[in-house]
Amino acid sequence: MNLIRQRRSIRQYRDEDVDEKTMEALLQALAWSPTGCNVHDLFFTVIRRKSEMDVFRNKMSETLKLLIKTGILRFVYPNFWRYMDELQNGVDVIFRNAPHLIVAASPNTAPCREADPWIALSYFDLLAQSFGIGTCWCGFAVHAFRWLPSLKRRLAIPRGYTIRAVLLFGYPAVEYKRQTSPAPFQIKML
Ligand SMILES: Cc1cc2nc3c(=O)[nH]c(=O)nc-3n(C[C@H](O)[C@H](O)[C@H](O)COP(=O)(O)O)c2cc1C
Repeated sequence: MNLIRQRRSIRQYRDEDVDEKTMEALLQALAWSPTGCNVHDLFFTVIRRKSEMDVFRNKMSETLKLLIKTGILRFVYPNFWRYMDELQNGVDVIFRNAPHLIVAASPNTAPCREADPWIALSYFDLLAQSFGIGTCWCGFAVHAFRWLPSLKRRLAIPRGYTIRAVLLFGYPAVEYKRQTSPAPFQIKML
């Protein structure tokens, strides 16, 4: 219960790569993720070094600025106005200065191609948080990699696979003292 109730999105990270042993444990655990019809065929790309993340960060921010300037962004991502001020003030609104990122892709033919990657990264998310690693889902990057073929190529996703889910992670630079008090979802008991 504590693990679930204390999980938070982390948007501030220490300027430090996650240590080898923890990274290895996190990546090994991925193999136990369930997949629909047991099509055990997910593909993950992990950005292991902050220096590599910086390549993604710089290219992303350069492209977003161009898309804003030309007015194209509101067509490709109508929700983007929420981030406009931060972006114009040089905030890394997409990758949140995270030192690492994991991308989950599934084969286009897999029966549960939409669900499998999210399940795998949800397991990864909780395990990471249990190790004291901060995480943040990066739904924006799932979209953005579609308009950025150069970054997509750099992720080395095999042909026939689609990027479905992206999670940022690293040592958190903030600590939340208290849990949130979310409103309960609707639940029907039969
Ligand atoms: C599918 C999904 C996509 C998300 N995409 C983003 C994102 O692109 N950027 C971001 O900062 N947070 C993103 N989030 C994090 C949510 O904003 C966050 O989980 C929510 O505000 C609740 O806050 P908490 O995680 O601290 O409890 C995403 C979460 C989910 C589940």
